[in-house]
Order: sequence, then structure tokens, then C-alpha cells
Amino acid sequence: QPQHFANITNLHSFALPATCRQLIELTCQSQLPEVPWNAQTLILGEGTNTIFLDNFNGCVLVNKLKGLHVKETATDFLVTAQAGENWHDFVVFLHDKGIHGLENLALIPGTVGAAPVQNIGAYGVEVGTFIEAVAGWDCKKSEATLWSHNECSFGYRSSRFKRPEWRHIIITAVHFRIPKNWQPVLSYKELMDLPENVSATQLMERIIAVRTEKLPDPSDIPNAGSFFKNPTVPEEFARTLKAKYPELPQYPQANGQVKLAAAWLIEQAGLKQVAYGDAAVHQRQALVLINLGSAKGEELKRLAQHIIRVVFETYGVQLEPEVRLISAEGLMAHI
Ligand code: EPU
Repeated sequence: QPQHFANITNLHSFALPATCRQLIELTCQSQLPEVPWNAQTLILGEGTNTIFLDNFNGCVLVNKLKGLHVKETATDFLVTAQAGENWHDFVVFLHDKGIHGLENLALIPGTVGAAPVQNIGAYGVEVGTFIEAVAGWDCKKSEATLWSHNECSFGYRSSRFKRPEWRHIIITAVHFRIPKNWQPVLSYKELMDLPENVSATQLMERIIAVRTEKLPDPSDIPNAGSFFKNPTVPEEFARTLKAKYPELPQYPQANGQVKLAAAWLIEQAGLKQVAYGDAAVHQRQALVLINLGSAKGEELKRLAQHIIRVVFETYGVQLEPEVRLISAEGLMAHI
């Protein structure tokens, strides 16, 4: 049953005070043809990458579809997970079944259905690599559709599903193909001291330890993970920056561009101490903005705008939000 003018403060992990006009829980595929669709419908998983800056005038649809299914071929595990499954529980479930590869993505907050939307990634692994297809419901056409890996257009923290014009797709399930011959990815500096014959359990434990150390647990300190993306700049510009700031971590990309550590830019611009009301920068990871208790949407907005402006004035680098920001009218194109 839809709820009207529901409080959604607890439905997004940044926990700013907010309501929505209508709230619907999707618990069964049979509800799909009845989903009321208009330009102001917003689909939510656990709300760990979406921030409501204001009371939202639209309908929020919370995806709670559950279920897991595992098959195997001679070379691969074929796993189907319904979109409302919790991501970390899914990683642990696979791990415990001896299906390895997603350990680097342990402890990422959110749902399985949200994972392909922004192609979640951490410690050298991106989920898109393991996704064979994404199943969804097209609210405009009122029909089920399946997108193959290539049709998903996975990129750094992006996919076709993150584009505003694909908002009418409810991801219902994700199909994974996970090779049986597991090779640990240990390229990140936090993992480099692990032995080459590291067990998948040791690797997962390390990832959990590193994340717990650096990243605030949203249930203790409300946050939405990295607030900004790591910016990508042309190689020539990256060289100029390197000459001026030899310590700035730079990651050359396959396309010739260079990714920069936004957390470093923010910290070195002296922005770790900045706060607007209860909207602040996390002390152990400057890319994460936090709610110290009773932050308001307006305060978070001003903090983000301040960081973007100072980083641009200092380095000539434009930061962009990584999180999905929602105003009263809906998805914001920029902050
Ligand atoms: N650094 C600082 N100050 C800080 C934190 C980091 O100067 O406060 C510097 C350090 O030199 C560090 C570098 O920035 O070496 C990079 O930091 P880190 O390894 O923590 O990773 P990140 O690039 O800031 C990205 C993802 C994280 C993911 C980590 C690990 C994005 C936007 N963020 O952060 O993902 O966990 O790599 O792979 O790509 C998320 O998306 O919500 C998220 C937390």
C-alpha cells in the first residue's frame, strides 16, 4: 500500500530530514505492471548513494525484491541475484560458497540492484567486469527487458542506468558470470603486502579492515560514501600539476587520461576543517562528507559548493558529485 507524505529520513544513509509525496515498497515482481510511473518517480535501494536535500515532491519506490540463484558451467559460476538483496551479504554468501572474485568489493553499502547503476568499484575491482546481464522493468513501456554486458556501457562509476534518461528502468535482477579460476587482485597499495597465494578469506578480511579503518559506518555517522568522483584530466594538464604538486596521487587510465585523487586535492587545499552546521568533511577520508547529527540539506549543499569552488580556484580541477542528489523537484543535474 502506498504511504502518503512519508518520512524518508531513514531511507537515505546521509539521513537529512526529508519526506516524499508517496512511498511504495516493491516486494514482488507481480507489482511491476501496477507501478505508477511519472517523471517524478524515483527508484531507491538502501539509499546509500542518494541524498535527499529537501522534501521530495515525487514518489519513492523502494526496491526490496529478494532471491539468489546459483548455477555452474565447467568454467564459471552463473549467479542471479534479485535487486533488493544487500550487497555485502551477497559478497559474503558467494565467498562462503567458494565463489571468489568479489571480495575486493566487500562492505560496500547498498543493494545488488544499485551495484551496476554506478558500476561500484574498490581496490582495483569493478562490479561490471562480472556482470553478464541486467534484468529490468521498463516503466514507460510496461515490459521486462534484459541488457547484455555490452549494452550496460560500464565506465568509472557510471553505466547507462545512471543517465537521467534511463530513470524509468527498475533494475529487478543482476546476472553475474564469475570465473572458477580465481585470481586475487592485489594491485592497490593497501593489499600489496599480501602474499601471492593469499586466500580469498584473508583478502576479504583485509578489505573489511581497511574500509572499517577509513570509512565511517553510516549507522554511526550518516554519510553516502565518496561524495565526489575522482576527476579525470588530460595527460598534459596532469604533468603540469605533477610539477607543482609532486605528492598528488595520479592514476593513468587506459584512454590516456589521468585520474587524480580528489581526497588529496581536498585535504591539501585545507578543506578538511570546513563545515557548514553539521555538514562536515570526514577526517580520515576527505572525499567523504558526513552528517554530524542534524545537518540540513542547505548546509550540505553549501559545503559541497565551497569545496568545488576552492578546489577549482586552487588547482583548476572541476570536481563533480559521485552521489545522486535529489531536490524537491527530483534528480539534480549539478549542485
Ligand atoms: N588521500 C588524502 N586524504 C584523505 C584520503 C586520501 O590525501 O583524506 C589520498 C591518499 O594519498 C590516497 C589517495 O588519496 O592514496 C586515494 O585515497 P583512497 O585510496 O582512500 O581512495 P579514493 O580514490 O579516495 C576510491 C573510491 C572509493 C574506494 C577507494 C578504494 C571513488 C570516488 N572512490 O576512493 O569508493 O573505496 O577508491 O578503491 O572512486 C565510494 O565510491 O563511495 C567509495 C568509498
